[in-house]
Amino acid sequence: MKKKKANKIVEEKLPKKRYEHSVRVAETAVKMAKIYGGDAEKVELAGLLHDYAKYDELSKLYQMVTKYELDNALLAYNSEILHGPVGACIMKYEFGVEDEEIFLAIHNHTTGREHMTLTEKIIFVADYIEPGRQQPGVDDIRKMIFEEKKLDKAIYEISKRTVLYLIEKDSAIYPKTIDCLNYYNLEK
Ligand SMILES: [Fe+2]
Ligand SMILES: [Fe+2]
Repeated sequence: MKKKKANKIVEEKLPKKRYEHSVRVAETAVKMAKIYGGDAEKVELAGLLHDYAKYDELSKLYQMVTKYELDNALLAYNSEILHGPVGACIMKYEFGVEDEEIFLAIHNHTTGREHMTLTEKIIFVADYIEPGRQQPGVDDIRKMIFEEKKLDKAIYEISKRTVLYLIEKDSAIYPKTIDCLNYYNLEK
């Protein structure tokens, strides 16, 4: 898929604010690719497409988990994580986006995992730090990325904040998120 098509399907599918977020994630990802030696074209596409399934009905997301034989355990956790794996499958099987790194980047942007590829790492972080994000302490992560150039440390920090947030809400935490936290704690 070309950038123009990706932009079009996302603009048509998502509410304006989420579309604009997707464009900013793509732009941030390209900026990061230049610093970390990533593939600018791939991260741009993954950034545009990453939230494609974000506003799909829960019933549709559940159906897709079965249809695409995704991990059934996904259903036992915060439903916010579903749009990553489902969106990746929609891109692969319905739009013919064959690239494995783009698939993984969309798939894992909601949970993280151990041993992420560079494209996955960039999307995982760009989603958190794009200029429209204003969560407390986000500037610390921007500094890690653009000044200290510590990508794995930023992934650890983002995972940590996500896990702390989920614990505060008494939410169950998907095991891949914990694996990501532990793995990048050692890598950072
Ligand atoms: Fe997302
Ligand atoms: Fe996002």
